[in-house]
Amino acid sequence: MDKVAILKQKVKEAQLGGGVKRIASQHSKGKLTARERLSLLLDEGSFEETGMLVMHRSRDFGMENELIPGDGVITGFGTVNGRLVYVFSQDFTVFGGSLSETHAEKIVKIMDLAMQNGAPLIGLNDSGGARIQEGVVSLGGYADIFYRNVKASGVIPQISAIMGPCAGGAVYSPAITDFILMVENTSYMFVTGPNVVKTVTHETVTSEELGGAHTHASRSGVTHFASANELECIDNIKRLLSYMPQNCENDAPVYAYEAGDESRPKLNSIVPENPNQPYDIKEIIAEITDSDSFLEVHKEFAENIVVGFARIGGRSIGVVANQPAFLAGVLDINSSKKGARFVRFCDAFNIPLLVLVDVPGFLPGTDQEWNGIIVNGAKLLYALSEATVPKVTVITRKAYGGAYDVMNSKHIGADMNYAWPNAEIAVMGAKGATEIIFKKEISEAADPAAKLAEKEQEYVEKFANPYGAAARGFIDEVIMPELTRIKLLKGFKMLENKVQSMPKRKHGNIPL
Ligand code: HXC
Repeated sequence: MDKVAILKQKVKEAQLGGGVKRIASQHSKGKLTARERLSLLLDEGSFEETGMLVMHRSRDFGMENELIPGDGVITGFGTVNGRLVYVFSQDFTVFGGSLSETHAEKIVKIMDLAMQNGAPLIGLNDSGGARIQEGVVSLGGYADIFYRNVKASGVIPQISAIMGPCAGGAVYSPAITDFILMVENTSYMFVTGPNVVKTVTHETVTSEELGGAHTHASRSGVTHFASANELECIDNIKRLLSYMPQNCENDAPVYAYEAGDESRPKLNSIVPENPNQPYDIKEIIAEITDSDSFLEVHKEFAENIVVGFARIGGRSIGVVANQPAFLAGVLDINSSKKGARFVRFCDAFNIPLLVLVDVPGFLPGTDQEWNGIIVNGAKLLYALSEATVPKVTVITRKAYGGAYDVMNSKHIGADMNYAWPNAEIAVMGAKGATEIIFKKEISEAADPAAKLAEKEQEYVEKFANPYGAAARGFIDEVIMPELTRIKLLKGFKMLENKVQSMPKRKHGNIPL
């Protein structure tokens, strides 16, 4: 064979992966191949492959007989909507996408390139885990990847899509990355699978129940997005990228935006008159932000807080909002963790934060206390205090107790704080407060119920409004709801060049 024929032959072998039969088997499971996924993710013709002809080195257990160029992972770089990204896509048709020494080396190489050149890393995971035939060498390969995931954290965005199995220690690379996306029914993540679970704890559980997309989207919060299929998953990756800068030294792309009438009269009627009646904070988010720009993150997990990306005047922002429609928007362990993780991503990547507040306080109870609401609630407080990006707050209704402080109050470094006229800013709700401070007076009254009602009214008049806080400058302005978008457009514009540095230190010690 001449040299060109040899090259053509090798490229053909690499492109075929595990062969036609195994590709058909992949399709029959409702999964795309590693190459099909990349061609959907990347702009047409933009992909440049690295290490296509790399082959594994193991010669044990029959491995010498099957040498497939590429070794079960396709790596390289390309563009998504014209912006550079580095990618790896595991090929389940080659040794179940298992990670060998050389497979790991290929991933490590593009991780290093991504870091050196400051562009996002996207991993499409579909793997049976450590290449069993290679033993510790493969474990070392995983650790090489984990180490780089940690070094890259906060430097370049890292996104992991799980499109097949992801088990054992392999889960820890995605876990360290910024966002995990999973595909329903065809992907799963767990540290130990159903068989081990059965042996150790005698529980019977399917892979899907134990670690499928729905489980991780709603119960554990491990995954940020659960997609119905791979196409949706890849679309979500592209959409997610559109809000992010290339690296921590850049700003997110700015989208074209034409100013129009920015008042939003609908905002005047979303919050019910009765302070105990719920409403959907997402209606407010949709009115305040550019139309159809909100991408919710962690949609099914800890629904009492809503987080996600949006745009205001074409610029990316991160939104953190209490959700009165779920558990009255109370802060608990999961919502605090969810909020904190999102805030830290935004802060690391220069994405300004908008915090919408309607919070009755922290959730009481033994479950919360025994599981550490103290340290977990502190995570959100820490993350918002530590964030140096522009930070704007709007109190739409309640801001009670410690949760007032935590939810981006002026005291922890918010730049602009607005409140709507119906806002209630106080240590606690009227009934509870009255029962405590007027206990004696109420019990001694001829008609205790009437006394309680009278005192409650007195308290409401004094505290269930934003004016005490505004008088002290804790609130910059009390605004009509319909003007909120205008205020935010101006506020974020004013803060565009904000520079704030933290004290010199190695790193803080967030209560993990
Ligand atoms: C080598 C593997 C492999 C592995 C799968 N294959 N996993 N080869 N090392 N880890 C091969 C199979 O031998 C098979 O080869 C092909 O990939 C497809 O696998 P099937 O079993 O036929 O596919 P399927 O029925 O879809 O099952 C997929 C699977 C199963 C559930 C992932 O393959 C499986 O349980 N694999 C082992 C998973 C595992 O225990 N891995 C180690 C985890 S510990 P042929 O030639 O027959 O097509 C770990 C530690 C990481 O990863 C630690 C990091 C710190």
